[in-house]
Amino acid sequence: MEQRAQKELLELFRDAVKVGGAALEMRVRRFASLVRASDEELALSIAPLVSGTRALRKSTAPAATSPVDADSRLPLVRVQLPDSHAPEPVLAGEAQQQIEQVIKERHAAERLEAAGLMPIRSVLMSGPPGVGKTMTAAWLATQLGLPLYTLDLASVMSSFLGRTGANFRAVLEHAQREPCVLLLDEFDAIAKRRDDDADVGELKRLVTVILQTIDDWSPLSLLVAATNHGELLDPAVWRRFDLTVNLPLPAYEQRVSALLSREIPLSLAQVVALLSEGQNMSSLMRAVESSRKQQILSGTPFEETLISWASSLAGADDVSEREQRAARRDAKIFLRHLRGESAREIASLVGVSHTTVIRTVSRLKEAEDGRT
Ligand SMILES: Nc1ncnc2c1ncn2[C@@H]1O[C@H](COP(=O)(O)OP(=O)(O)OP(=O)(O)O)[C@@H](O)[C@H]1O
Ligand SMILES: [Mg+2]
Repeated sequence: MEQRAQKELLELFRDAVKVGGAALEMRVRRFASLVRASDEELALSIAPLVSGTRALRKSTAPAATSPVDADSRLPLVRVQLPDSHAPEPVLAGEAQQQIEQVIKERHAAERLEAAGLMPIRSVLMSGPPGVGKTMTAAWLATQLGLPLYTLDLASVMSSFLGRTGANFRAVLEHAQREPCVLLLDEFDAIAKRRDDDADVGELKRLVTVILQTIDDWSPLSLLVAATNHGELLDPAVWRRFDLTVNLPLPAYEQRVSALLSREIPLSLAQVVALLSEGQNMSSLMRAVESSRKQQILSGTPFEETLISWASSLAGADDVSEREQRAARRDAKIFLRHLRGESAREIASLVGVSHTTVIRTVSRLKEAEDGRT
């Protein structure tokens, strides 16, 4: 192409991308991939204008910069670099598939874009506390090789000082320039404080900015919003996200998997999982950790503390009453065994046969030995 025309065209693309956002950016990228065969030089000069998902794939070294407050120079977001040791969250089947889909689409972004399709750009995760929303965002960032920027919307909205709007925009702009996963935590905060008298005008504008941002989000970075109160968000907000992922409290299978992932032997994991229905993953994992600490600090066997914790929990209804009762009985037998009571003593106290005690103990014991 003639040089002046090419320069003009590049200017046009640059402006188009600047004002037109994600959709135009994608078309420009498509144009570049169409002309690549006939005019490689042109295609190469277009590339930096739409560094989009192309940069995303190249970004093995994540940006070290993070947006800062203009006055204080304090960081506006929490930055976590991708960590190859980040543990994988244990998720229920559907959520698991959705998260895999996000990773798959982001990895195939270029092919999708060449076909005029956009990879998933925004994800809304909802669910009760401690089920892995934050952890899943970190996992996504790691899988995509991107830094995770976390912005707690609740604190942004409550520390409202006029500058918040500007700071917030700075964060969004930054995330649209540097490939990252931007986590807007406590996203339901945008639904609250709406009718707060003092700041209402400014807050409303901020909410508008947030919603507009989701609409125009470029595929360069992945936007993840997390909320414990999905019910507070109106359907118009839900609809704006490319994907909504529901993370419920973990079911029995997930509780077993999570315990297994922490090297708890199967039979013990099953007993603990049966007794811990209704618990979130966070409490379950904390119980495992504190049981381990207990063993180191006071010598109480790890299994004893963990089973005691599980036995102290209130009943459940996702597992049958019969299974619950059996698990409680197993727990009781095993605990007494760990405390040094004889099979005969246990049998008479728990009201089962001597052989049942021996069988239960050896089942749980076998697993215990298999741990190392
Ligand atoms: N699905 C999960 N699989 C494995 N571990 C989990 C899972 N969910 C939570 N955990 C454990 O609990 C910790 C806290 O979880 P996380 O902060 O991701 O929960 P959250 O859903 O973001 O909670 P909140 O709503 O309170 O922010 C994690 O660091 C991890 O140790
Ligand atoms: Mg969280």
